[in-house]
Amino acid sequence: MESIRRRFDEVKDISPILEEIRSERLVDGARSCAIIGCGYGELELAFIEQCMPELETLTAVEPEAESVVELKARIARQLPNVRSTVFEQAVESWAVSCDQVFDVVVMFHCVTEIPEPERRPLFSRLLESLMKPGSLLLVVTRNGRLDGSQTTDSRIAEALTGRPYDDSKWYDDTRQLLQSIGFTVGYERRYVLHLNVENLDDAFFALQAHFCDEPTTLEHVEQVVRSVIGDDKWNRREMFFGLFRKPVV
Ligand SMILES: C[S@@+](CC[C@H](N)C(=O)[O-])C[C@H]1O[C@@H](n2cnc3c(N)ncnc32)[C@H](O)[C@@H]1O
Repeated sequence: MESIRRRFDEVKDISPILEEIRSERLVDGARSCAIIGCGYGELELAFIEQCMPELETLTAVEPEAESVVELKARIARQLPNVRSTVFEQAVESWAVSCDQVFDVVVMFHCVTEIPEPERRPLFSRLLESLMKPGSLLLVVTRNGRLDGSQTTDSRIAEALTGRPYDDSKWYDDTRQLLQSIGFTVGYERRYVLHLNVENLDDAFFALQAHFCDEPTTLEHVEQVVRSVIGDDKWNRREMFFGLFRKPVV
């Protein structure tokens, strides 16, 4: 994973957005926060450190055991004065039994990991029971390219599987779902994640292999990835950062 992590610096790519949220004080009074599907928490903790100076309690929900180990160490190091609880669990099952209410719920790059049929019940549960009136849900995910061209991920996935793969409406679809449930859009920014694709290595090819339905060789994945990426040094991934509000009514 280290070799993948060195290829991008998303905290840097979102720093102008975090600076704007901080200066406009959009979440600065938040005292309780849930971070969902947070992996080891790099983006989530950067967001909290920069934008939520008054945070008192943090709940983290992440099903992957290896990430949870690093997440706990990072929380202890970066937020020593915040009371934290980490649930090593899928958000769908956590949400059903959770009886807390939050000022902010954070979902960086995890909505599309949640099985599609589970998303509406999950967001409804957040809105109806787990978020305070006026509180905010942060959703960050990929969207289509502004110039309308196909994304690199979808080109690689289609070349590996032979089936259509459409990631161009991930954010738009999520926004539509959230609005249909009753959230309102509070703040939205598009940003670009810059991925260094020089000197591609096995770790990178192994990561791309997750698109495959059937086991395949790393050599095959490498051949496909190289044919899509060519000699590029940098790859652009276009993202959306959205804050959705639970109405006060
Ligand atoms: C692409 S990673 C994003 C990690 C982190 N939020 C980030 O942006 O760096 C997606 C994360 O969602 C988690 N995940 C997958 N299915 C989940 C579920 N049903 N409930 C909660 N988290 C889930 C994965 O374990 C993984 O850590």
